[in-house]
Amino acid sequence: MRAHARISLDALRHNLQRVRELTAGTRIMAVIKANAYGHGMAQVARVLDNCDSYAVAHVSEAVALRAAGIGKDITVLQGAINREELLQASQSGVGLVVHASYQLDMLESNDLPAPVDVWLKIDTGMHRLGLAPGASGEAYQRLQQCAQVGKVRFMSHFACADDPGDPLNARQLRDFLAAVKGLGGECSIANSAALCAAQENHLDWVRPGIMLYGVNPFLPGRGEVQALRPVMTLSSGLMSIRQYRRGDTIGYGATWECPQDMPVGVVAIGYGDGYPRHARSGTPVLVNGIRVPLVGRVSMDMICVDLRQCPQARVGDDVVLWGDGLAVEEVAEYADTIAYELLCKLTARVEFSYR
Ligand SMILES: Cc1ncc(COP(=O)(O)O)c(C=O)c1O
Repeated sequence: MRAHARISLDALRHNLQRVRELTAGTRIMAVIKANAYGHGMAQVARVLDNCDSYAVAHVSEAVALRAAGIGKDITVLQGAINREELLQASQSGVGLVVHASYQLDMLESNDLPAPVDVWLKIDTGMHRLGLAPGASGEAYQRLQQCAQVGKVRFMSHFACADDPGDPLNARQLRDFLAAVKGLGGECSIANSAALCAAQENHLDWVRPGIMLYGVNPFLPGRGEVQALRPVMTLSSGLMSIRQYRRGDTIGYGATWECPQDMPVGVVAIGYGDGYPRHARSGTPVLVNGIRVPLVGRVSMDMICVDLRQCPQARVGDDVVLWGDGLAVEEVAEYADTIAYELLCKLTARVEFSYR
């Protein structure tokens, strides 16, 4: 019995369409880094061919997309970190983010087979990657004068977009617009949460990631995006059912105790498949569509579930861990993490199908 991730191609197309409806007239850079948030990068790219461009994190991801036959514009969000990557990007016709002065120097001091398009990243408050707003004018001039550079555009990234009420969002947008004023290139600042939160964030390009996969991009209780559809449904099966006595403990560490005589099922999935080890007792799973709680610790290959609500369950029955009928956001809360991490972390043991 093997864990299975079913990827709904219709849901992917639908979610891209939702982005189009929300941002009419704005161009869309679909973020498909980290194996398309665990969904399969080349497969997702093919289905989202209606977007305007793709974004990945590393040059190697962009090269893999080209090898898979993807011809559309691709931007590497971390840019080239050495000369070899710069050459690969140029040879593959891939655009680069420039977020640090060493990347500018590299562009100026290397001959390339073809000019590369550049997104100049400005740090407006995330304080991770990007040039200071005051340095944008000079950097832009240098890029424009550089023979190795094609089109130049501007981007920044919000630190707190998942909390639309955070005052840092407005300050970052203001500082970004001030930094690029009068320079004339296209601009982008909005990820999923930011594009859903306010139209003023849309600018020329939006960069949705998580919402394409059907996940609400806001922190719990801070907002909801209507009509997204989950793309990944992770499922497995019941491999054992046994009756235990009141006071019996379940699993490693004997952390969960049966409050009464009861049936407990064992599901063929564990942290060896990418199911989060920190999912606590009470985390919901669906057995034949009925919500039941996980009990005890998550093991490498198995989890245990309380089957009191499901007395008719049988070995071999279907168990959904997240996706259709059970939001991955909810499971993430029980595991003290975010949906992004759960989706990205499935291991090679999980079988994927695309429909
Ligand atoms: C620079 C940048 N833009 C856009 C995105 C997409 O963000 P989200 O998945 O929250 O829409 C990311 C993701 O981390 C990113 O790093």
